[in-house]
Amino acid sequence: MIAGGGQAGFQTAASLRQGGFAGRVVLVGDEPVLPYQRPPLSKVYLSRPGTDGIRLRGAEFFEESEIELLRGECVAGIDRADRSVTTESGTTVGYDHLVLALGSRNRALPVPGADLDGVAGLRTVADADALRAALPSARDVVVIGGGFIGLEFAVAAVDAGAKVTVVEALPRLMSRVVSEPTSEFFAGFHRARGVDLLFGTSVSRIVGEGGAATGVELADGTRIDADLVVAGIGVRPNTELAERAGLSVDDGIVVDETLRTSDPAISAVGDCARFPSPHAGCPVRLESVQNAVDQARHVASRLLTGEDVPYEAVPWFWTDQGAAKLQIAGLVGGHDRRVVRGDRDEGRFTIFCYRGDRLLGAESVGRAVDHMAVRRILTAGAALTPEQASDVDFDLKAYSKSLTSRPR
Ligand code: NAI
Repeated sequence: MIAGGGQAGFQTAASLRQGGFAGRVVLVGDEPVLPYQRPPLSKVYLSRPGTDGIRLRGAEFFEESEIELLRGECVAGIDRADRSVTTESGTTVGYDHLVLALGSRNRALPVPGADLDGVAGLRTVADADALRAALPSARDVVVIGGGFIGLEFAVAAVDAGAKVTVVEALPRLMSRVVSEPTSEFFAGFHRARGVDLLFGTSVSRIVGEGGAATGVELADGTRIDADLVVAGIGVRPNTELAERAGLSVDDGIVVDETLRTSDPAISAVGDCARFPSPHAGCPVRLESVQNAVDQARHVASRLLTGEDVPYEAVPWFWTDQGAAKLQIAGLVGGHDRRVVRGDRDEGRFTIFCYRGDRLLGAESVGRAVDHMAVRRILTAGAALTPEQASDVDFDLKAYSKSLTSRPR
């Protein structure tokens, strides 16, 4: 039984079947559509018609694989003693093992006027459809939040011909995930495309006329015209169901290194799970496709083999912001040293982040080869000195390919 029909839930079901699982597989998702990929929603999807390209699989896959997909259904409660879940529509499904792949939801914009027409968030295909329809007529766009969603949407809005302002509460872009030099590069990139970036300030209210947004007011009283306001101010993990069931929750459903919750008959994967990461050295919750897919495969494998193996996949992320493509390998938070390979002015560089002598990860712009090499190095648990990293004559690709994975 799998609760949650996003990337992590879908992958759990698919991997169980691919691995030969012969029992019943039920996948419950609250959206009315077939499971789909979210990354394109803030990128190409906004400028291209059609939805087929984002589907993870067609309806026939679920039929042929005998995955019982309950769409538009929400799991309302878990009865751990009975080992069953009940959906909001009253269906009860028993389980031997329950996988919580409940994902996260957008943080609501906590200001007056957030309910006006023309104020939107972007997470689901329904959100993306609404924004795709609104973009051609949008003149003045205010994006609240200079994170992944906000910046990817800003690219689409500029391409659609709008004047775009990004309002970011913190002093730099994408600060939750990337280092200062990478934030600076992306600030330069967006400014060069005509985006106005405002840092260290926030929107105190959204003003409107006749029920529709006409602008935003900043904390210092400045007004900015806006006929479309898009908020991308982060997410909150969906933990309420787990909390009600008495599972351990701490900004995420707490799991051990094998991704089991405090109830061994229940696992949690993807955005909603807080797990001990050897790459962070502490429990973390990661919001990425890689994390959703790899954790789902890990749990499916444990259920198929019965073997308790710690989850140790190297985290990686990407964001495409027009011509600027950023790939991140590892978790670079808490680094105390950086070296650069390549040329920042040309927009083709990798920033390697270290804590002491230990390579934590790297951020690559326009250097996919470096990104893949760092993933291999981190997977192998191998060393890479700052001197090797910054020396373009050192063959990083060949070195990384010569490594074998660290024995577990
Ligand atoms: P985010 O956490 O990446 O960025 C949110 C930004 O909003 C932060 O920079 C934060 O400082 C700022 N912020 C928070 N409150 C604010 C306020 N009141 N006023 C102004 N700024 C404020 O989250 P985001 O961009 O909303 O993305 C949502 C989710 O989607 C995340 O899980 C993200 O990882 C995921 N995503 C990933 C992508 C990728 O990997 N390429 C692309 C798009 C989304």
